[in-house]
Amino acid sequence: MEGKVRVEQDATLTFESGVVCDGPNAEETIDAQGGVVLPGFIDSHTHLVFAGNRANELEMRANGKTYQEIAANGGGIMSTVKETRAATEQELLELGLKHLTWCLRNGTTTIEAKSGYGLDLETEVHILLALHHVDAAFCESIQDTAGSRVIPTFLGLHALAPEFVNRQKYVDYIVEEVLKVVAGAKLAQYVDAFIETGYFTPEDATKLATKAKELGLGVRLHVDQLSDGGGAKLAATLGATTADHLEQTSQAGIQALADAGVIPVLLPASVFGLGLTKYPDARAMIDVGLPVVLATDFNPGSSPTPSIPFVMALATRYMKMTPAECLAAVTVNAANSLGLTDRGQLVAGQKADFSVWPLKDWCEVMQWIDGPRPSQVWANGVRVN
Ligand code: NIG
Ligand code: FE
Repeated sequence: MEGKVRVEQDATLTFESGVVCDGPNAEETIDAQGGVVLPGFIDSHTHLVFAGNRANELEMRANGKTYQEIAANGGGIMSTVKETRAATEQELLELGLKHLTWCLRNGTTTIEAKSGYGLDLETEVHILLALHHVDAAFCESIQDTAGSRVIPTFLGLHALAPEFVNRQKYVDYIVEEVLKVVAGAKLAQYVDAFIETGYFTPEDATKLATKAKELGLGVRLHVDQLSDGGGAKLAATLGATTADHLEQTSQAGIQALADAGVIPVLLPASVFGLGLTKYPDARAMIDVGLPVVLATDFNPGSSPTPSIPFVMALATRYMKMTPAECLAAVTVNAANSLGLTDRGQLVAGQKADFSVWPLKDWCEVMQWIDGPRPSQVWANGVRVN
């Protein structure tokens, strides 16, 4: 029986699963009806909360405009910032809950989620509070008192806010003012920055990471996505937990990640979504022993997909990853990248987070492209889809 998720006005999630389940119970037996059972996916790079959509950009893309050209004409990240600033905190919460249900439907049961569509104190706080409430509503609905289903990251350095002309002044505002509020109120576990030509520099990232560490936050970074800006080396120098994207990273950069123990988070759906052809060199990373992670980069622009199965389908075709490497990359390795040891594996003692697929062979989950969805999804022993 298919489950339904109802999002209520007062920010509670109610699951109508068609299965009687009183919550976490180690003695419970589930009938998988001969299907495939996988651990709940852990999506360790998303931009879960944003308002509006970027459907209008499809026509510009069809007319040959690039991501950067669309952004330079007021589209891209900035158009989402405009819509997100205009939304109320309650609207952002409802959008976050809606997007969460899209993730659950694809078998994901834990999500890292970034702010970054506010770029001012008020809206960044609204987004992070919305993420906090999405987490609380989800945890409550599955009786998971420990929390940590939606792990928040403060991405203040996503783009230059429109009211700033001087990038340096904006970086100081984010690092000296906004980050203090975010850390003081414990609104985020990590900080992040988009290090790219036309966005932010290694010096900006160093300022942010230094202050974040003083305040007890971890560091994740968007690096080497559109150009090789030495981002992998930078992430290594700064002691970042993860370096994300890495499409343009050199072999020396990959070695630097391995030497420093920085975890690569690869986002092939953003390469596909931008119509590009250069995928990150996962094989070189695996060859030097890096515990590669795959994630969706779910956002309204470059990677508008909440689907981990689609990401694995891309990784098997364009990154030469084996099905087993893909599965590890969205479960146990992804958990490791978020410091989570209580999920990601189907073993006794872990949280009962799993999905059931109406398939014969687990490799089919990534062999079909946008194929079957799970017939059941369970989080903490509660059916959520
Ligand atoms: O991870 N690279 C920067 N940020 C996002 C894209 C955000 C957007 O296009 O809205 C990314 O690809
Ligand atoms: Fe991203």
